[in-house]
Parts: sequence; C-alpha cells; structure tokens
Amino acid sequence: MCGIVGAINSGSCVDFLIQGLKTLEYRGYDSAGLAVLNGGLHRSRAMGRVAGLEDKVAEKGIAGSVGIAHTRWATHGAPAEHNAHPHVSEGLAVVHNGIIENYESLRVQLEALGYTFTSDTDTETIAHLIQACLAGGNAFADQPAQDLFAAVRRAVDYLEGAYALAVVHESEPDCLVVVREGSPLMLGIGENGHYAASDASALVAMTRRMVYLENGDVGRLTRDSIELVDGQGNAVERDVTLSSLSADAVELGEYRHFMQKEIAEQPQALGNTLEMIAGANRLHPGIFGADAETVLAEVDSVLILACGTSSYAGMTAKYWIEQLSGLPCNVELASEYRYRTSVPNSKQLVVVISQSGETADTLAALQHAKSLGHTRTLAICNVPESAIVRETALRFITRAGPEIGVASTKAFTTQLSALFLLTLLLAKANGMLSADTENGSIEADREQDLLAELRHLPVAVERVLALEPQIAEWAQEFAHKHHALFLGRGRHYPIAQEGALKLKEISYIHAEAYPAGELKHGPLALVDAEMPVVVVAPNDELLEKLKANMQEVSARGGQLYVFADGDSRMNSSDGVKVLHMPEHYGLLSPVLHVVALQLLAYHVALAKGTDVDKPRNLAKSVTVE
Ligand code: M6R
Repeated sequence: MCGIVGAINSGSCVDFLIQGLKTLEYRGYDSAGLAVLNGGLHRSRAMGRVAGLEDKVAEKGIAGSVGIAHTRWATHGAPAEHNAHPHVSEGLAVVHNGIIENYESLRVQLEALGYTFTSDTDTETIAHLIQACLAGGNAFADQPAQDLFAAVRRAVDYLEGAYALAVVHESEPDCLVVVREGSPLMLGIGENGHYAASDASALVAMTRRMVYLENGDVGRLTRDSIELVDGQGNAVERDVTLSSLSADAVELGEYRHFMQKEIAEQPQALGNTLEMIAGANRLHPGIFGADAETVLAEVDSVLILACGTSSYAGMTAKYWIEQLSGLPCNVELASEYRYRTSVPNSKQLVVVISQSGETADTLAALQHAKSLGHTRTLAICNVPESAIVRETALRFITRAGPEIGVASTKAFTTQLSALFLLTLLLAKANGMLSADTENGSIEADREQDLLAELRHLPVAVERVLALEPQIAEWAQEFAHKHHALFLGRGRHYPIAQEGALKLKEISYIHAEAYPAGELKHGPLALVDAEMPVVVVAPNDELLEKLKANMQEVSARGGQLYVFADGDSRMNSSDGVKVLHMPEHYGLLSPVLHVVALQLLAYHVALAKGTDVDKPRNLAKSVTVE
C-alpha cells in the first residue's frame, strides 16, 4: 500500500530513490513520483511503473542530494498523474503511505484559508496543513512554526488515521522530516547520509544499519544527525539494528518472476523455518516465546484472525488443532471480526497470522481483541520488526525471507508449518500428546513421528516442484477459460480456496472454491464443458466421498483436473486428468497440494501474459482498511 523512500546524503540521491522505488514497487504501482531539493524544489511524476518515472527524471536531468519518492496504490483519487505523490504546497513536498481519515474537514478549513487543491487525494491536505503551520496566524497555528520539523510536529496533531510521511521544503535544503503513525517507516544510517523507507528491502543496497521508528515518532534527518521525538514530544533514541536481509534476497537472479522464485524457494524457506526443531524429538513451547509454556497451559480454545491467504492458513490449522489437540478453534476474517460484537473469553488464545505484519485489518482486529480483554495473543508473521509482532504476548517468526510477488506463496507454506508446530504444542498442553491412550490421547511416539514428518517437508515439496512440466501443460488448457471451480474436502477445502485465490489474483480467471459435498447444493448448475474443475484429492478418509462428487461433475460434461496421491489408484480417462503427487503425506498433505496449485496459477498467468508479480488493482502489503 504505497512505498516511501527518502534520502539526504552527500552525492546525488536520485539513483537511490529510483532503485528504492523499484524495490518497493510491490507495495503499489499505480503511479510513481519524486521531489528533489537543488536550488529549489524539482518534482517529477509519472503514471504506472517506476521505469516511466526513471525515464522522465533522466530526461529532465533531475539531480540533488535531498529527496523523497513514492510509489502509489490508489485509495483517495483515481490513478492519475495529478493524484501521484509527492504533493506540494508552495516550496514544500510530501509523500505519504496510509489514509488520513479526517481529510475532508481539513480540506474545507484549508481551502477557506486560501490553499488551492490540485488533486483528489487525502495527502495534499497534509502538504497544505504543514504549510499552514509554518505560516502561522491561522486556526492551526497562532505563531509561525520555528522550522519544518516544528511545523510537521504541529501538523500531526490534526491528522487522524494511519500514516508514514517524508517531507522536504526548499527553504531548508539540508533537512528531511519523517513521521511514523500506524504505517511502517524505518531509517537507514549510511556512510554518507541518512535514508528512510517503508521497508528494509529498499535500504539494504545502501546500509544494513537501521532504526525502526515507533508509532508517534517524528524525526529530523540531516546528513550527519538524526533527531527524534516521540508522540508526547519527548526527545527519544531508538536502537540501531543490523539488518540480516541480503541484497540478493530482494533480487530476481535467474528467475523470470518473483512468484516463480518464491515458489521454488519453498523447500529452503520451510527448512529455515523448521530449523529450530532439527534433531528434536520433543517440542518445547519456548519456540513461541519465553512465556509460551504458561500462556498455552491455560488455553481452552483458539481464535485465529487473518486476511486473504493468511486466513486460509488459519482455516487449515483449524482442522489440525481440533483433531490433534481437542481444543475448539474458530477462524475469522480480521476485517469482519473487528466490527462485530463477539463474546470474549480470557482463556482463549488469539492467533494473528500475517506475512507482512502490517495488514491494517489484522492489526486492528488484534487491537480489538486486546481491548476486549484478550491477553493470550500470538503472532505468526514473516517480518520480525512489524507492527503486529510488537503487539502480541507470543510470536513465531516464519523464515520465508522477503516475499515480493503480490501473490503469497512461500509465506503460506511456512505459516502452515508454524501452525502445525502450534497444534502439536496445544495438543501437548491439553494432554493429547501424552502416553495416556486410555483417555483418547495420542501416544508419545506420535510427537516424534509428526516432528519427523515436518522435517521431511522440504524434501517432499522439492518433489512436488518436479511436477512443474506436467502442471504447465495443464495450464495451457486454462488460459482461454473464463471460470474455474476448485473442490476439496476437510483440511483440503482451504487449500482449494487458496488455489482459487491464486488463480484469480494473477490470471484474472474467475475461480471459486467449494467443499466438494456442497456442489450439488447449487454450484453444480455452473458445470459444463467450458468449466474446468480442479480437485484436491489426497488419499484420505474422504477420498471415496470426493470420487462420488467428481462423478457428479463428469456426468455434466465438466473437465476434471485431479491432484491425487500416488497410492490413490485414480487414473486419467475421458474428461478426467489425474496428476499423482509424489508421496502421500497424511495430515501435512495440504502443504504439498498447495504448491501444485501455486504452480498451476503461475503457469496459467504465464500463458495469459498477465503481470504475474504485480497483478492489476492489487498491492502486496495492505496497510489501509
Ligand atoms: O501480509 P498478510 O499476510 O497479512 O496479507 C494478507 C492478504 O492481504 C494476502 O494474503 C493476500 O490475500 C495475498 N495477495 C494473497 O496472495
């Protein structure tokens, strides 16, 4: 949801700004723009991708050592050049990530003061508001602010919503002001200056020394100093962290697309995530945080909150948790939970799942749960420094590495592995993984076996990746279709949902997922020769039922594409194409099946020629409601 970059250094910062925007382009790609100070304010903006801006900047010969830049995912105001950031007010320019909720009333007040608006955005309000605070003698500031830093500090008092800002003014050519309130922003300490960005990936090319701002922080950066005040106006220092992110991790390398790279990286990502159980026969709660043992011992149920792909990880886990631990588990979309009246239970474990850790709905749902009295909170997240991780009692950091493709892949499978670990711990805490078989609990050896199966996952996923040529062949047949159905049962129903989401997200083919038993209650009416039906068909206790559902499709002329297990004795025939998964994987089979569906979506998108990594209308990190 928009990417911000800022720099103040001793050479020209333009290359850094452009490269930074390219790295952050996954956050939004409706338009891009930058503003640089060099004997005045020089701004350039372009519709669409950063490459377009790069050409414009080169044509105009824009250079300078202080600048701000932005790549936009449109919220207020259509994607159009006049709505592209930076927005200016006299000699001031601002870039913004987030949403200003009270911008309409501010705009009315600022227009009354004589400020002219040239865009439909909420951001332009911020530019004029800071200018009004600099000028003084108005409802926002009696006296002129002493400098840009003071004006920004005054202006943020009037802003409601979530935002990260970077601001420059031509009257202060040696200063860059930044703000973090609800949207991510971090600083980089370089050899020859200071930098700011929405995400560490944009900074690593320049420096590994980073400062993560807290909500409410306002900072003044010069080439050799950083001055920070917190939300109460107190001078503060924030720790300098050495980022372990490698520049390679955010580069394409030999791959054509980040999604392709990220699908291929899954064995490694799973291996890294599961490293802490390497060689372990018993699981220790400490992997979820120092207090995990105490927190989990008291838990009587689980509530999982997440959005999109992360919510499907949660739904898969519901099957595991209820089956293995015997604890009731509910999964709710974060965007719904936060606005409904729910019944809090102080013994419930609230689990938030998020790749980015910045998803506004998930963060707000967590805060809502806490406001209702939930204290047993756990984040499963891929970004250790993210907002969500900082707000929970327990945490598990998946080690998928940066995920750049908008369609989530390796984050999902690593989330599943983390959730399986959680399931085992809950089962142990609830006495279900002890030797007490009389009371229906799972024998002790089971823990050891399940851990061994988890450890084998990277190898098993590698074998699924080897099916790519056959899946790519199938994909050609989808490229001219307009709709597709995905069927699954039990713990593979969320996997069918995830497969459908992947397909619609990157190929723009309308895809719906149903639990196969539901087909005859309505969706069967859609089935004809033009409707490909993808079936997730592991050899589990529901396979025979699933086969009956497949017959219903065949009888209506539907074309079936079945992902079956090797030992399920299903073969291709007229109207039924069967691909055998390399091994039958029991409880963890969702992790393997989803990889096959990711490959299917990727190859359909490739065949259709869509923009795989940056699908239309979407952005990677959804930091607005
Ligand atoms: O960063 P998060 O996991 O919180 O993101 C949640 C969703 O926005 C995300 O999974 C989205 O559905 C993906 N684009 C799906 O591929």
